[in-house]
Amino acid sequence: MSEPTRDELIHAALDAQQRAYAPYSNFPVGAAIRAASGKIYLGANVENASYSLTICAERVAASAAVTAGDRDFTAIAIVSRGGASPCGACRQFLAEFNPKLRVVMVDSEHRDHGFQSTLDALLPNRFDASKVGTPKRP
Ligand code: THU
Repeated sequence: MSEPTRDELIHAALDAQQRAYAPYSNFPVGAAIRAASGKIYLGANVENASYSLTICAERVAASAAVTAGDRDFTAIAIVSRGGASPCGACRQFLAEFNPKLRVVMVDSEHRDHGFQSTLDALLPNRFDASKVGTPKRP
């Protein structure tokens, strides 16, 4: 990814992180996903008093893109304290759309400390549509 594109995506994710609703963990996460259309979709984690209902920033961003009709993702930037990498559920969720997705993880307090990977590397030997086959109708 070119530097301006990468910076733009990181800035968008930092912006989304500001709107995280994370009163229980106090661990705000922001995500920005880029589609081949050039558009960027944002997500932030949304927590709940019933903790397990929490939604991660990455899945919110991917769902926003899909809802807008954009499923061809090329890259995602994720910002959090310490630059965490996406959880297993989010890796699986994102792999549905592009197993080669570029993933940029950034520490929101040291923005130059970015780490770049791909879903292929983060989730090898994943479960995917080829394993399910075509569902048989009764
Ligand atoms: N979280 C994310 O938003 N993305 C991840 O990939 C890992 C965790 C959120 C969920 C919860 O609101 C908080 O971070 C602490 O787990």
